[in-house]
Amino acid sequence: MSRPTLAVTGSTGAVGGMVARDLAGRGVAQRLLVRSPERAPDLGGAVVAVCTYGDREAARAALEGVETLLMVSAAENADRLREHRTFVDAAADAGVRHVVYTSFAGAAPDCTFTLGRDHWATEEHIRSRGLTHTFLRDNFYLDFLPLMTGEDGVIRGPAGDGRMAGVARADVARSAAAVLLDPAAHADTTYTMTGPQALTLTEAAAILGEVTGREVTFHDETVEEAYESRRRWEAPQWQYDAWVSTYTAIRAGEVAEVSDDVRRLTGRAPLSLRDLLALER
Ligand SMILES: NC(=O)c1ccc[n+]([C@@H]2O[C@H](COP(=O)([O-])OP(=O)(O)OC[C@H]3O[C@@H](n4cnc5c(N)ncnc54)[C@H](OP(=O)(O)O)[C@@H]3O)[C@@H](O)[C@H]2O)c1
Repeated sequence: MSRPTLAVTGSTGAVGGMVARDLAGRGVAQRLLVRSPERAPDLGGAVVAVCTYGDREAARAALEGVETLLMVSAAENADRLREHRTFVDAAADAGVRHVVYTSFAGAAPDCTFTLGRDHWATEEHIRSRGLTHTFLRDNFYLDFLPLMTGEDGVIRGPAGDGRMAGVARADVARSAAAVLLDPAAHADTTYTMTGPQALTLTEAAAILGEVTGREVTFHDETVEEAYESRRRWEAPQWQYDAWVSTYTAIRAGEVAEVSDDVRRLTGRAPLSLRDLLALER
């Protein structure tokens, strides 16, 4: 098979995996860029190429002949921004024309969510290399709300009564697939990926409790309490900052904007937290 000119990263994970399966189901040829080929999904019309974001030469070779690239942001690590820049450089070297990147809602150099700053810097790097871009600025994933709930049924963090317009990963994936099916229609455009509503964590806890039948509540920690309560997990400082700033970003109102972009891209309403939890049961 000739090497497809559409490349998808992250197919061994949740978002990229859903995108790849969606495209394969439509008969679209794609090149799956993966770190571990034995874990690549086995999909009709897909060929596998191996690289990590941080290896410029391997990434350039894997991307040779690619026109459109879905770049799923890398796993959080201290070196992520360098890895992203290296991968974008490799894409530019290889002659990629259009990069579709999963960014963060409210990405800015000074946004409260510390990792949102790296997303902004990645966006800037993609622009600076003269690549056509589509940025999918994802709000926090609704999928993670159950995981933010402690074993005692308490969501803890300094979010106050701030709101978050969380989005289901499935809606990010459907939106990404829609862009990849017709990239030119989305050239140099930024979309904000949110669910249909912005919830306080008190409201989110009530929905979690209702759907799961267990009592779930939200406890509004101080910032100091938030750092202290997370110290029981050994982690580098940047990770504590990321964890705590997830909540302070909500408190600051920086992830409260509800957007209609998922519906515009996919033609269907985004999943609410209740919808998502019902699907998972
Ligand atoms: N908005 C939010 O709330 C939120 C929350 C968590 C994460 N995120 C971001 O959203 C991304 C997608 O989410 P997800 O749930 O699909 O994550 P996931 O299931 O962990 O999948 C991440 C995918 O990216 C690949 N990957 C990670 N680092 C890489 C690197 N340095 N080079 C090449 N490939 C790499 C992984 O490959 P392997 O299988 O080889 O590891 C995997 O296929 C995450 O990677 C993260 O950046 C957003």
